[in-house]
Amino acid sequence: MSSRYHETYAQWKADPQAFWAEAANAIDWIKPADKVFDPSQGAYGRWFAGAECNTCWNAVDRHAANRGDTLALIYDSPVTGSKRTLTYAELKDEVATLAAVIADMGVAKGDRVIIYMPMIPEAVVAMLACARIGAIHSVVFGGFAAKELATRLDDAAPKLVLAASCGIEPNRVVQYKPLLDEAIALASNKPASVLLLQRRQCEAAMQPGRDYDWAALVAKARAAGKQADCVPVLATDPLYVLYTSGTTGKPKGVVRDNGGNMVALAWSMTNLYGVAPGEVFWAASDVGWVVGHSYIVYAPLLAGCTTVVYEGKPVGTPDPGAFWRMISEHKIKVLFTAPTAFRAIKKEDPKAEHLKRYDMGGFRALFLAGERADPDTVQWAEDILKVPVIDHWWQTETGWAIAGNPLGLGQLPVKHGSPTVAMPGYDVQIVDEGGKPVMPNQMGSIVVKLPLPPGCLPTLWHADDRFKESYLAAYPGYYNTSDAGFMDEDGYLFIMGRTDDIINVAGHRLSTGGMEEVLASHPDVAECAVIGVKDSLKGEQPCGFVVLKAGVNRSPLEIEKEIVQLVRDRIGPVAAFKIAITVNRLPKTRSGKILRGTMKKIADGDEWSMPATIDDPAVLDEIARALEGKI
Ligand code: COA
Ligand code: AMP
Repeated sequence: MSSRYHETYAQWKADPQAFWAEAANAIDWIKPADKVFDPSQGAYGRWFAGAECNTCWNAVDRHAANRGDTLALIYDSPVTGSKRTLTYAELKDEVATLAAVIADMGVAKGDRVIIYMPMIPEAVVAMLACARIGAIHSVVFGGFAAKELATRLDDAAPKLVLAASCGIEPNRVVQYKPLLDEAIALASNKPASVLLLQRRQCEAAMQPGRDYDWAALVAKARAAGKQADCVPVLATDPLYVLYTSGTTGKPKGVVRDNGGNMVALAWSMTNLYGVAPGEVFWAASDVGWVVGHSYIVYAPLLAGCTTVVYEGKPVGTPDPGAFWRMISEHKIKVLFTAPTAFRAIKKEDPKAEHLKRYDMGGFRALFLAGERADPDTVQWAEDILKVPVIDHWWQTETGWAIAGNPLGLGQLPVKHGSPTVAMPGYDVQIVDEGGKPVMPNQMGSIVVKLPLPPGCLPTLWHADDRFKESYLAAYPGYYNTSDAGFMDEDGYLFIMGRTDDIINVAGHRLSTGGMEEVLASHPDVAECAVIGVKDSLKGEQPCGFVVLKAGVNRSPLEIEKEIVQLVRDRIGPVAAFKIAITVNRLPKTRSGKILRGTMKKIADGDEWSMPATIDDPAVLDEIARALEGKI
């Protein structure tokens, strides 16, 4: 089968503005753009400048008007034993009612709302309700600790927090409300109110005057027939801020605008994922991550598909056949998840025995992203599913794929280990340290020539300088992805790892620098280093080395346990920080730089050579000995 990819990419390259103007026809605009791209605005220009629109209208109302009975959302929760569906008409009713409630609580266009909720339909309703009235939502993943939530409260300064009383993990009920109360106590910017959804699995204590009961206020608004209309916003106004790991403990508030996001996501549903309106599309992620924002909430709904909210895991809820049950029961056409999920299934059911119990007849494709898709996992998935398995590469910052294999345009040949080719909108180049393009197959930094396409971040929340410094300063005229890799002679990209201190644990993006800040705060720790070491299930797992202060006589084992707990308390269980190792010294260069790269190679069992600048080579032997039996 031939692919229209090359002609489509060439079309974009010949006239980017015409390309995106055409793609913008998939969206209803209240006022069309003055300029498809305005280079004079923002750090590198802005898409659809002057246009007015509403994302909720495009994701919900217009489908409710035309095809109100089509399913918008399927909720399936093996951890609570509940299932629920919402048609587009029902979703509109829920969203418009909640929007009226939060508007009554004083939230208006441009105000921030933090959403701290598990994978339940109300989380999606909450995001859309904010979009409806032009409020800027910021969803915080449930696996983060109170301090991380507090940092986000301080940065976003929300008027309101929308929360649920708890999330359900297979091994425990995670009570969100005490974490939220602690976060608000820690934060300097305290929200005026909290709207709390009490789940039947756990009832949270309310603070009078600040906390309001979600169900009660929604019921009251419904009884009064109150619904909020869609508020026109500029295409360039923020739809949401999503915090992601930076190189320090302070996360980066990635800003997503309304217009560009809608155009890019709508284009991707047709051309990359190859799905049509009415089809069921499932992104098995969480609304707390960018995959959840783009492909659980906005893209499938913008495209008039049915989206799936799954409150469960790939394994253990109840077995490694969970994904196959979902696909056959809900007639899912396309699944998008992280490779870790498939590694988890493969580990428990290597022969895919569970697959035999289900009819997978309608299933068309599996998309993987969030971390490197290792060839073994891709091969296994291809063998058992017998449908295209597509690796695609992107980042919280970009909001949609930088590189992929566009199923909607006709699949290109697959090369294992490669997320295939650059999507239209992205002029991807591999450069050396001086910013000069390297030859095919040569490793370098992966950069994207500016401007970034619609959908990508225009800036960081209230931090234009940090945006420029983090992404635009290293290679003038280019966006620095902070990923390293190479491109082969066919234009296929190979993403080999980060050039900064970000690690990827079970598809979750974490900063080792942020973890080091926590380790260093332990009263007995003099120095520390955190590295990501290979893990057969999660891809990477963090491993911390600590040097104790002189005169500390306590048991290192006890201190290590405290350190593990400290990371869990400060960053959250999602950091999956389980290994802390006490050493006498850290390997350093003569100028005092910790040799984290060499430590990682030793831990991973990779070949390594003695750095020429090392201060004392014997320290590396000590590190190797300390690692024995620990990983
Ligand atoms: N709220 C509270 N805690 C959460 C949470 C949430 N939403 N999500 C995860 N956690 C907790 C887990 O309970 C676990 O806690 P524990 O240390 O007490 O066991 C910890 O955070 C680490 O979670 P996770 O990384 O998910 O590991 P796991 O061992 O529980 O599960 C997998 C392993 C592979 C099943 C799981 O990582 C998975 O489903 N991965 C799919 C990848 C994915 O969805 N990535 C998102 C980006 S696309
Ligand atoms: P996040 O912002 O959480 O989506 O993480 C983005 C980072 O995850 C990227 O910069 C990559 O390092 C990594 N990543 C995401 N998708 C892929 C992929 N398909 N292949 C390799 N790395 C990936």
